Amino acid sequence: MPKPREVTLLWALRSRCNLGCKYCYFGTLEEHREAPPAQPGQLSHLSQDDLPLTDITRFLSTIGDSGVKRVFIAGGEPLNWSPISAVIETLTSAGIEVTVCTNGIPLNRPTVRKMLIGAGVHGVSVSLDSADPTLNDRYRPAHKRNDGWSTVVSGIQALLADRSDQPDSPATPKVGLYCVLTRLTLPGLPDTARFAAELGLDYFVAQPIALDRGHALHEALVLREQDLDTLARVFAEVYEANLGLHLPSPRYPERIASTVKHELQMMHSCFGGHQLAFIEPDGSVWDCPSSHKIAAIARAGTRRSITTRTAAELFPARVPSSGCDCPLFSGDCVNMLPLMEDFDRFLATSGGNR
Ligand SMILES: C[S@@+](CC[C@H](N)C(=O)[O-])C[C@H]1O[C@@H](n2cnc3c(N)ncnc32)[C@H](O)[C@@H]1O
Repeated sequence: MPKPREVTLLWALRSRCNLGCKYCYFGTLEEHREAPPAQPGQLSHLSQDDLPLTDITRFLSTIGDSGVKRVFIAGGEPLNWSPISAVIETLTSAGIEVTVCTNGIPLNRPTVRKMLIGAGVHGVSVSLDSADPTLNDRYRPAHKRNDGWSTVVSGIQALLADRSDQPDSPATPKVGLYCVLTRLTLPGLPDTARFAAELGLDYFVAQPIALDRGHALHEALVLREQDLDTLARVFAEVYEANLGLHLPSPRYPERIASTVKHELQMMHSCFGGHQLAFIEPDGSVWDCPSSHKIAAIARAGTRRSITTRTAAELFPARVPSSGCDCPLFSGDCVNMLPLMEDFDRFLATSGGNR
């Protein structure tokens, strides 16, 4: 009997991006031009060592025999790299569920929308932080000045329109909004959720901002204990509004609050490195995207890459077992919970508890 596929990959496929988000996990071009990243696993939009398509294709040729069930393709911006269509088609043809995480601006290109729908992508998560264009564009500025909130929204609308032109029912891909939760976007969260519902989106996720203590925006943006009453109130408003959107499980706001109160916690039976793996643009493979965990793995010298191993070696199909206890659960990790716990529901083709 074939062993079940239970592995989710979060794959930062490319480094480059047409946005220069000031809080991005990848840092900013300005800071990295001055001081190129030196830590193991540190991401950069400078993209000095993104894998060539040949290496990616060789790895993908082995994925059908692996335990990979679902891939979230992110970056940088994955939809501005033309070979993305080959990557997606190989994955969907192997029966793997694909969700593309995009800043939404490439969705204005008809060829991109046609490719996503034609390749049978299951989900498209579009990032937009607020229903307020000024607040969104202040922290998510585009390199091309005319792009921003309006082009993200027009991209979403164009994808939803093309999807509804398809004869298939129910509609795929599912399309959702991902908003970064900061001290500034928190009060407007119910408006952002209502906006997502009015656009006709399927799911809505607020992901708390994760920044190092030394980051210039830490003070202004990172949630702190005095924000927790607001956090509880705005999430309750979103959940009670019954907007017709799929939302993360009702426990999610508490989990966010716990990472605000405690920098590190024990996560029992963690899915990281077991049901979840994180691949960087240079092909390196980590248990999860947590900076704490990446530093620990780098110290232990147990680094892996998709350039030297097959998908089945890295992510074998196996009978599900519980993961390891990890003492490093942090604000970096809470954003993995919706990926691991809610996407079966978000991508379900019918019904579902919204
Ligand atoms: C790095 S982006 C890459 C994919 C794509 N370009 C996009 O905009 O969705 C993936 C997600 O991470 C979010 N993000 C970036 N930096 C973050 C941070 N420091 N804390 C929390 N979320 C962050 C983005 O807003 C986006 O939703």
